[in-house]
Amino acid sequence: MSSHKRTLVTAALPYANGPVHIGHLAGAYLPSDIFVRYLRMRGEDVVFICGSDEHGVPITIKARKEGVSPQDIVDRYHKVMKDAFSGLGINFDIYSRTTSKVHEENASAFFRKLYDEGKFITRESEQFYDEASGTFLADRYIIGTCPKCGNPNAYGDQCEKCGSTLSPEELIDPRSALSGATPKKVKTSHWYLPLDKYEPWLREWILEGHKEWKTNVYGQCKSWLDGGLQPRAVSRDLDWGVPVPVEGAKGKVLYVWFDAPIGYISNTKELLPQSWEKWWKDGDTRLVHFIGKDNIVFHCIVFPSMLKAYGDYILPDNVPSNEFLNLEGDKISTSRGWAVWAHEYEQQFPGQEDVLRYVLTANAPETKDNDFSWKDFQSRNNSELVAVFGNFVNRAVVLTQKYFGGRVPEPVKMEDIDRETLDAVKPCREALEKYIEGYHFREALKEAMNMARIGNKYISDMEPWKLAKTDMERCGSVLYTCLQLCADLAIAFEPFTPFSAEKLRGILRVGVDAGSDHRAGEGAPSENFFRDGEGKALHTRPYGKPLEADGLVLRWNMLGSRELLPSGHELGEAVLLFQKIEDSVIDAQLARLEAIRAAREAAAAAAAAAEAAAHVEPQKEEVTFEQFGAMDIRTATVLEAERVPKTDKLLKLTIDTGIDKRTIVSGIAQYYSPEDMIGKQICILANLAPRVIRGIESKGMILMAKQGDGSMRFITPQETVTNGAVIG
Ligand code: 2FM
Ligand code: ZN
Repeated sequence: MSSHKRTLVTAALPYANGPVHIGHLAGAYLPSDIFVRYLRMRGEDVVFICGSDEHGVPITIKARKEGVSPQDIVDRYHKVMKDAFSGLGINFDIYSRTTSKVHEENASAFFRKLYDEGKFITRESEQFYDEASGTFLADRYIIGTCPKCGNPNAYGDQCEKCGSTLSPEELIDPRSALSGATPKKVKTSHWYLPLDKYEPWLREWILEGHKEWKTNVYGQCKSWLDGGLQPRAVSRDLDWGVPVPVEGAKGKVLYVWFDAPIGYISNTKELLPQSWEKWWKDGDTRLVHFIGKDNIVFHCIVFPSMLKAYGDYILPDNVPSNEFLNLEGDKISTSRGWAVWAHEYEQQFPGQEDVLRYVLTANAPETKDNDFSWKDFQSRNNSELVAVFGNFVNRAVVLTQKYFGGRVPEPVKMEDIDRETLDAVKPCREALEKYIEGYHFREALKEAMNMARIGNKYISDMEPWKLAKTDMERCGSVLYTCLQLCADLAIAFEPFTPFSAEKLRGILRVGVDAGSDHRAGEGAPSENFFRDGEGKALHTRPYGKPLEADGLVLRWNMLGSRELLPSGHELGEAVLLFQKIEDSVIDAQLARLEAIRAAREAAAAAAAAAEAAAHVEPQKEEVTFEQFGAMDIRTATVLEAERVPKTDKLLKLTIDTGIDKRTIVSGIAQYYSPEDMIGKQICILANLAPRVIRGIESKGMILMAKQGDGSMRFITPQETVTNGAVIG
């Protein structure tokens, strides 16, 4: 760990245009919460900052679609997200929003200082303007035909059909998503941060100075820097956002990626109005940004350049970023409903918040994209949390209740195996620390679970329930050892599964050190701080209800030390830490996803069929009258029809042509059964040179209408006519 006095942890401010899903949780929010809980337990000085990112074009688009205001949208999702995080125990010190007054003032002032000091350049460019609605159009508001795949509804920034990244200029026949009118190019002027000027410094700072950053982060930075940086616009023509605070900037707001990261500062300011600067400007503060991989460039290149331009601020020490999480083998997608939503999970699995935390951490996409599956969720719960962790604790506590009146027994008959077992936890602690401090939470969790495995194996091998019949002193020593391990687990699992750790502390009747209250004396709590059930602001975490009875309080550095629970300490009630998850519960989740997948496939198939059906073959090359006249097209009637054996496509038809009775082999079996054809009047090309198909001589061809989707229908006269009538 770098030397520092305090740690400021931020988690990416999520856009307030949809609820939080497991991809978000696994990407930035669980890792940051684990990290912060660990630091708090170590007694480090830490603040944990997050909030909703409430500006940007997608929010205005959603509002327009729903016929409500952008403010309505962000109010709705801010609440849903805030509650969802809190419900999963992700305990930010503050979860505020970029529509707050503090933020508007702070972001404005930030811009204004850079503006006054000449840190921006201005550039004029031509942008699409919709005269009908009187607004400039963000790329997403321009729709047109994709030059790559012909999709008529591609967006100005991306074609969702072929996935190409586009610019509005590339669209064929662009139109405004607002009015449908053809947009015009109009000149507009914006402020740009000249990132190119910061490039040499960024190269030095990141490529030389931060080789320890995760490979995915370092690699992305390197490729951006190697590609050469360009000035980046920091304002937009939009009516939703923080107004650009200079004269003559009417209708212009700060670009969302300029104001959002400043939101970290604003929210710290809201939390700690008096001491916030210490967290952002003192070189003894370690700043860590937790993000998803799509945010790397903004946090490693753009925001640091903004901070550098400003001058007084510290820079991030690390920017741990995860890859993406998929769901049941498919990309998570809010718009397609392919997600597991945090708020829904909390409703459907009350009391099982830790299971999701555990599974998402055990499966975290730390080095590559990874998959969440409900079967894996079930099996990790049943065979790891229930069968190992929960089972061990329950056996230890229940046996202590049964044989020792619920008090930690005297270790009067300790043997080497007991001491070795307790000692085996020490390397786990070292590994845990190494992994957490290196941002490898998945490996860290494995170590914690390894400790539970050690305990579970020990109790199974020692069989204290048998010892109780023969040697109560030995039984007591074994249970003493088990209970020390339970206390170790209560410490080790606190960052990962805090609800269960709290339950376990209740069982063991111990408290935990919750860290200090930074807000003491810094003003009234705002609504953006987490609260407990009674509405009391939780400046610190909802754990830390130290049970003062015996004054036993667990701290991180007690992990692996003897003795955490002294003999005679009275335990609380034995409750199960985890519940088995039945197949029916998993089947219901899979059925929900299956229904979404089926609906999506049906919609895609219907769209493809409609598109194919509408497809019309282009006209063939010109022919002469003579060429046409050479073809002898006539009416005929089908007398007999049968499938050609061992083929799917061929029917053998015996027809009356008026001239003769003959056989035609036709590839229409996919569209007509033999019964469909018998007795039908058809049109044939009578003078087509005979061909042998599957050993049958076919004389002529049936005229079929081939539709856009490839399906065929035979041509029949509107009224019955004589066989052999010449068509022409
Ligand atoms: O990707 C996102 O959800 C962005 N709203 C993250 C912003 S992080 C920070 F800069 F605020
Ligand atoms: Zn396309």
